[in-house]
Amino acid sequence: MSAPTLDVPGSVAWMEQIHRLAKERDAVILAHNYQLPIIQDVAHHVGDSLALSRIAASAPESTIIFCGVHFMAETAKILSPEKTVLIPDEAAGCSLADSLTVEELRTWKAENPGAVVVSYVNTTAAVKAETDICCTSSNAVEVVDSIPRDTPVLFGPDQFLGAHVRRILKRDNIKVWGGECHVHAGINGAELSAKAAAHPDADLYIHPECGCATSALYLATSGAVAKDRIKILSTGEMVTAAAGATSRSVLVATEIGMIHQLKRAAPSVDFLAVNENASCKYMKMITPEKLMRSLVENRDEVQVDLETAARARGAVERMIAIGSSGGGGE
Ligand code: 13P
Ligand code: SF4
Repeated sequence: MSAPTLDVPGSVAWMEQIHRLAKERDAVILAHNYQLPIIQDVAHHVGDSLALSRIAASAPESTIIFCGVHFMAETAKILSPEKTVLIPDEAAGCSLADSLTVEELRTWKAENPGAVVVSYVNTTAAVKAETDICCTSSNAVEVVDSIPRDTPVLFGPDQFLGAHVRRILKRDNIKVWGGECHVHAGINGAELSAKAAAHPDADLYIHPECGCATSALYLATSGAVAKDRIKILSTGEMVTAAAGATSRSVLVATEIGMIHQLKRAAPSVDFLAVNENASCKYMKMITPEKLMRSLVENRDEVQVDLETAARARGAVERMIAIGSSGGGGE
């Protein structure tokens, strides 16, 4: 079956059409905070990776349409193998997930016997299957802190998030893989310092995957920005912080899709991207046309082989059990 004639994407009629089709096929539409605003607005739930994993695990619908990137849809399938999980474009990948292969992880584990493996949720199902416990940016510190202090930890693949965890926990037995997200690594310290100098009254919201996270702490210790104005937050935690914001402007260091939810949470606050070009091409592959195609043509179905899913499930379930908020799912 081909897609029905489209109402203008974003119009009330289009939204109603999407919701009607979703209801007819017993589907729930989830969208990550980096999705195009039009996709965020039509989704039943918008949130960060932890909040969306939790919603996917408990949703009563038989079909999940995941407007995000492939590892997120795969995580939903690992948690709910009996459900149909669709992603509107299966080519929506992730440079961070690509930076650690399962073969590399196996070699790293063999070189470090006895270490507990903590993998960021931005990994393939095969890497999760070799992992003891997964984490997201909103619970990485709590996850590593749940491991006895004298047990060595292998943390991958994000080097900036790993450095953040090591800094907070003041623990030197954490080995960190050298991977990165090309979007967040590109938000650098020089840009952050220049923007902070140009907006001296602004608060700073910084995602821990950013290349500038260490520079932010330098700004605090050097006194250039007051310590309590610098917040290292997952995308969901940014929405929660915005809802209670007291400053008139906020500098935001993460993917630019984030600004949409922040403005919704606090319309009177001026949210400014530290780098306006920090756009994830994978997240933006999910378009209104592909969402409609997904609903009408069942595309693209995400499969994880049963053995890999069974091995990965424990690590993902431990992840969703740790950390109170998970931030931002609504
Ligand atoms: P969170 O939604 O967990 O903050 O992660 C952001 C991210 O980079 C997803 O690709
Ligand atoms: Fe992956 Fe980075 Fe895009 Fe997030 S922003 S999906 S980490 S490439």
